[in-house]
Amino acid sequence: GFHIGTAVAGGGHHEDQPYPDPFTSDQPYRTVLAAEFNSVSAENQMKWEYIHPERDRYDFGTADAIVKFAKRNGQVVRGHTLLWHSQNPEWLEQGDFSKEELRSILRDHIKTVVGRYRGDIQQWDVANEIFTETGELRTTDNIWIRELGPGIIADAFRWARQADPKAKLFFNDYGVEGVNAKSDAYLALIKQFKAQRVPVDGFSAQAHLSTRYGFPGDLEANLERFSALGLETAITELDVRMDLPEGGVPTEAQLAQQADYYNRTLVACLNVDGCDSFTIWGFTDKYSWVPVFFEGQGAATVMWEDFSRKPAYHVLRDTL
Ligand code: XIL
Repeated sequence: GFHIGTAVAGGGHHEDQPYPDPFTSDQPYRTVLAAEFNSVSAENQMKWEYIHPERDRYDFGTADAIVKFAKRNGQVVRGHTLLWHSQNPEWLEQGDFSKEELRSILRDHIKTVVGRYRGDIQQWDVANEIFTETGELRTTDNIWIRELGPGIIADAFRWARQADPKAKLFFNDYGVEGVNAKSDAYLALIKQFKAQRVPVDGFSAQAHLSTRYGFPGDLEANLERFSALGLETAITELDVRMDLPEGGVPTEAQLAQQADYYNRTLVACLNVDGCDSFTIWGFTDKYSWVPVFFEGQGAATVMWEDFSRKPAYHVLRDTL
């Protein structure tokens, strides 16, 4: 029952990641994708700006293809994501909508997207990155919370449950690997949801790690406290970036440290009851988002650009 997943590369912020859609165009990529994983997540293709590019138009093309590919290859799918402050289309962010309109826009979106894949999605990241580092709700940059208040988060979970009663509904965020203000805020909100019978099933840590910082040694203890509430947990976007030396080639010591971070993340998840989904955010440096978003850093995935395997790949295989 354990799922090893990867994000399926595709698009990204268009100007930043100029390559075409690897999922449709790169056959060797697809071969590895089919062979090495039993779970897949859409890196971008189910986000608002991709799947709902105009108010009255959805574009399901690549998302449908990913779900079909997954079925054909015996893989489950994680849905990502429904309520987020980022990668929303301009028509939404710049639109001039009343509160009632915005509410029905979100409800319709969730019913439409979750409903379309009803029965095909194992876990949905319903709410993504709703808290700041200090554990406050994002009341300025998250359009939904800003315009409609925090109650909209519970509504999003309720609408998702109605649209697909079998999908497990998750909160997902970065920087919540350890016990800290942000993960504390999730724990408190989830307790409140449970008390109010709002349907929430899981809490997941993205785990975009960097060898610049120490490994979050309390990852397991943190996941445990969510598990103790009866929740599922998951690692959803693991990668381990590093500062690239002059010339761009990581040292053996860096690769060993990276392998250790990957492995400790996997071990923590394996040790926690209900942590049954472990996803890396892309498997090859060829399409990793890291060099685009973190200047001077890279080599964050388990395979080189030619799909040859790094120490991190081997260490994960040995642990499994
Ligand atoms: C990233 C993608 O990897 C990029 O291709 C895109 O340009 C920006 O978003 N947290 C998330 C993911 O929840 O959706 C983000 O994915 C990485 C951080």
